[in-house]
Amino acid sequence: MSVPTGGVPSAASAAVLQASEPISTDAVPVQGPNFEKPFSLQDFISSYETIGFQANSLGRAIDIVNKMRKWRLSDEPVADDEDEDLKTHESRSQVKCNVFLGYTSNLISSGLRELILYLVKYKHVSALVTTAGGIEEDFIKCLGKTYLADFHMDGADLRRRGMNRIGNLIVPNDNYCKFEDWLMPILDTMLAEQKETGQVWTPSTFIHRLGKEINNEESVYYWAYKNNIPVFCPALTDGSLGDMLYFHSFKSPGLVVDIVQDIRNLNELARKSRKAGMIILGGGVCKHQIANAMLIRNGADYSVYINTGQEFDGSDSGARPEEAISWGKIKAGSESVKVFADATLVFPLLVAGTFAKEHVEK
Ligand SMILES: NC(=O)c1ccc[n+]([C@@H]2O[C@H](COP(=O)([O-])OP(=O)(O)OC[C@H]3O[C@@H](n4cnc5c(N)ncnc54)[C@H](O)[C@@H]3O)[C@@H](O)[C@H]2O)c1
Repeated sequence: MSVPTGGVPSAASAAVLQASEPISTDAVPVQGPNFEKPFSLQDFISSYETIGFQANSLGRAIDIVNKMRKWRLSDEPVADDEDEDLKTHESRSQVKCNVFLGYTSNLISSGLRELILYLVKYKHVSALVTTAGGIEEDFIKCLGKTYLADFHMDGADLRRRGMNRIGNLIVPNDNYCKFEDWLMPILDTMLAEQKETGQVWTPSTFIHRLGKEINNEESVYYWAYKNNIPVFCPALTDGSLGDMLYFHSFKSPGLVVDIVQDIRNLNELARKSRKAGMIILGGGVCKHQIANAMLIRNGADYSVYINTGQEFDGSDSGARPEEAISWGKIKAGSESVKVFADATLVFPLLVAGTFAKEHVEK
């Protein structure tokens, strides 16, 4: 064995100190924020792009959402078979990317509700998709408060005290009683209208009606009603709403909520979108229902997932964008990212760096 001068074995030194190939000119160095200099909120949010790991993915998500917001049909050449009314620059500059926002129920229980409300109030989104809790918890919050608590509270003790736990939040049972008192007469009226007109309800027309009835600016679905933004909830019965519909079906049978008309409405909205972006917080129905609608148009153009799901169990919740590309639910070569994180940590930063930028900077 050769021993170089200085006693360091040359094989070991060659193995450890192997020379690097040249770094490409567009490589970005890792760097965190510098707290010794004054900076704005936007500078702080931008600093995430170079921190690495999931901070990096958040930076990428912000970039993709800003591209969704910026896109106009006028950015694209006029196709030979273009609609007559979409041939001028002016008309094309009015056509935006449709943004489909999905979120799990617990996020309406959390303070992300206020961010979702903001997006709906200012018409930043074209359609919402959620699960039953994501609908009812919004209305219930207009009738009684949800409180901060603890993940480790004793379940039997809470049950005795009439308190329901969602993670580290608590909802008193009374809130659900108030919800029942509010909802039952509305269901009676809806049934009477259905009998009179022959028009059955769909989850989205049902939610639209409740948004009108709540008549409260603190409700996400009040603003969805006001701004005519459709809210899809294919699993409308899996929550307190299902309990109410169950009880109501004994007292006054006959109310019909048709999911077929809604799948048509959602898929047609996706199909007719000139550009379509998905922002999906969490997994399950809200994630897949939007992705599936994207299949109808041969895939989403922009995709941002924020969820804690893992893919090793084969769950759709945990699947990365790459899996959706294989199904044609995300366009190959389009911009997509998954941020592996609790949405309550990440979504406020994403909204502050995108849709709310103008408000935040004032
Ligand atoms: N407040 C509630 O959570 C509530 C209330 C009533 C009914 N329900 C019902 O429970 C059923 C299941 O709820 P669901 O389908 O909305 O979602 P879920 O709670 O089952 O979550 C689905 C997946 O989304 C991801 N996820 C959830 N929370 C997240 C977060 N904070 N950040 C990042 N990722 C997250 C996780 O991977 C999770 O496995 C639904 O039918 C719903 O109507 C829920």
